[in-house]
Amino acid sequence: MAENSAEKAKEPQKNAAEQPILEARGLWKEYGDTVVLEKINAKIRKGEFVTVIGTSGCGKSTFLKLILGTEKATRGKLLFEGKPISAEPDEDRGIVFQRYSVFPHLTVLENVMIAREFEKSRFLARVFGSARREIAEEAKAMIAEVGLAHAMDRYPSELSGGMQQRLAIAQALMKKPKILLLDEPFGALDPGIRKDMHNLIHRLWKQNSLTVFMVTHDLAEGFKLGSRLWVFDKLRVDPESPNRFGATITYDMPLKEGEFDDHGSQVLEAVNSVKKEMTEK
Ligand SMILES: Nc1ncnc2c1ncn2[C@@H]1O[C@H](COP(=O)(O)OP(=O)(O)O)[C@@H](O)[C@H]1O
Ligand SMILES: [Mg+2]
Repeated sequence: MAENSAEKAKEPQKNAAEQPILEARGLWKEYGDTVVLEKINAKIRKGEFVTVIGTSGCGKSTFLKLILGTEKATRGKLLFEGKPISAEPDEDRGIVFQRYSVFPHLTVLENVMIAREFEKSRFLARVFGSARREIAEEAKAMIAEVGLAHAMDRYPSELSGGMQQRLAIAQALMKKPKILLLDEPFGALDPGIRKDMHNLIHRLWKQNSLTVFMVTHDLAEGFKLGSRLWVFDKLRVDPESPNRFGATITYDMPLKEGEFDDHGSQVLEAVNSVKKEMTEK
């Protein structure tokens, strides 16, 4: 469905032969007898913003972990730029979780700098001198970018939830990931703050030509932010044995640019039609 004419018309400048940044070929993930994901086939092009929705426990976080490299597929292939995804997380993939993953004993500036220092310290025992100053400058720019310039020297406990998520985003982006993974990143935030975060993530996506995967339980958020929306669901259910079958991508919809609007009637219409389809199934 991603290859349909609406999407082609939307991005005519893209070369059809361009290699996908990510490709799943017959991907399965099982834990013992429990099938979590089954037969996932998908191609994602650079610059897409894929929002992922689905019922709790259907395998959305597991899918992100496969991309991150902290979990391994039990069958099939997951290719990153045409090669099997590396078994260890690396700088190509950055992740932001719902619960803040920042270091409590480090300031905002130190939290962002350390993201880069970890990477460098593989080659150097410690980063110091001009290299450290360069990292500090870059970190300050990134912190300003996410709107935390005024809080550079504060500790996470002195930040609101929204500010901590801004910090987690700055940390993830400091590694210059090619793919940004967001696992219900705004789920714990107040609705008013969430709207500011939408503007932030939309701007960062555009500015940095990122490829983004965002899991959300908020359908309207998925429609608003994504350039493509996936629904994870089980196509087959065995009532005697609920773990026998896994979830797969049951809907894969291109979204139009310009749906990034809280009041867009298009969004509401689309949300309602999906809800209707889902309840009728
Ligand atoms: N390490 C694990 N061992 C066994 N089962 C797991 C493990 N991690 C996740 N699961 C199971 O996989 C399923 C999907 O989990 P998850 O990907 O976290 O769902 P979602 O993010 O969609 O809510 C759940 O049933 C969960 O219990
Ligand atoms: Mg999850």
